[in-house]
Amino acid sequence: MKHSVLITGASSGIGAKTAEIFAQRNYEVLLLGRNQDRLDQVAQSLPGEGHKTFSVDLNDPKEINNLCTQLIKERPFTNSLSALINNAGIIDKSLFDKTSLESWRQQFQVNLFSAIELTKNLSPLLFENKTSFVVNVSSTLAEKPIPETLAYSSSKAALTSWTKGLALEWANKGVRVNAVHPGLIDTPIHEFHTDSEGSENRQFMDSLQPLKKVGSPIHIAEMIYFLTQPPSEWTTGSTFTVDGGIQLL
Ligand SMILES: NC(=O)c1ccc[n+]([C@@H]2O[C@H](COP(=O)([O-])OP(=O)(O)OC[C@H]3O[C@@H](n4cnc5c(N)ncnc54)[C@H](OP(=O)(O)O)[C@@H]3O)[C@@H](O)[C@H]2O)c1
Repeated sequence: MKHSVLITGASSGIGAKTAEIFAQRNYEVLLLGRNQDRLDQVAQSLPGEGHKTFSVDLNDPKEINNLCTQLIKERPFTNSLSALINNAGIIDKSLFDKTSLESWRQQFQVNLFSAIELTKNLSPLLFENKTSFVVNVSSTLAEKPIPETLAYSSSKAALTSWTKGLALEWANKGVRVNAVHPGLIDTPIHEFHTDSEGSENRQFMDSLQPLKKVGSPIHIAEMIYFLTQPPSEWTTGSTFTVDGGIQLL
């Protein structure tokens, strides 16, 4: 049977790599992000057929609602939606006394509330399957905040806590709900990816990791995929840390 997966934040980084992994394994992929050009680029690079892109600003609850209504009405997939990967996220680094309430609200909206809204509104599709999956991409910072990331860390801590509660509520509906906690992954979310001293900063970041290199999107994408497959069938409400060992320091 053909399976479908909706991945938020699929225009870049971890989400784009996750789209590739699912497409390689015969899924129809629904890619969500804001940047239509980058969504198209990723979608066109995927093997297989039936992939669709959706340009949606997750900072805008109206856009989220419209998308959900459209997906439920138009059903742009062969069967039903079997997996939802809530991966989109933003970080706005600043010290607590310099962080505006607006910044807190935006980070909570994109990192937490958008995932809640999508999951709630798309639940009729998920419940159509005998088994379906929600995977939330949280962060090691959910458990161990560091300075300048308080809004981000708090939003991810709430995402992880919600993951656990929802797993219990939906266990008898056949929906497994898990979270992944990435450590430092080389994606455009980090300045070292793009700035002029990028390679120097990157080497420094590598040296801080117990395994002596920062992670790659594939490390997270494979864990996400695992959490939607039979070998993880006895797993729900769990958090999976993929961080090169840094949480132990
Ligand atoms: N990289 C790391 O070290 C790391 C560590 C821990 C956790 N994470 C988490 O992993 C997830 C993926 O991050 P990444 O590292 O792959 O970063 P990234 O390359 O910057 O990708 C972020 C994705 O989120 C999307 N996004 C951001 N704001 C959005 C909005 N308002 N509406 C719709 N889409 C939006 C972006 O799409 P557009 O650009 O098209 O808007 C992009 O596709 C995030 O939740 C992040 O918090 C990352």
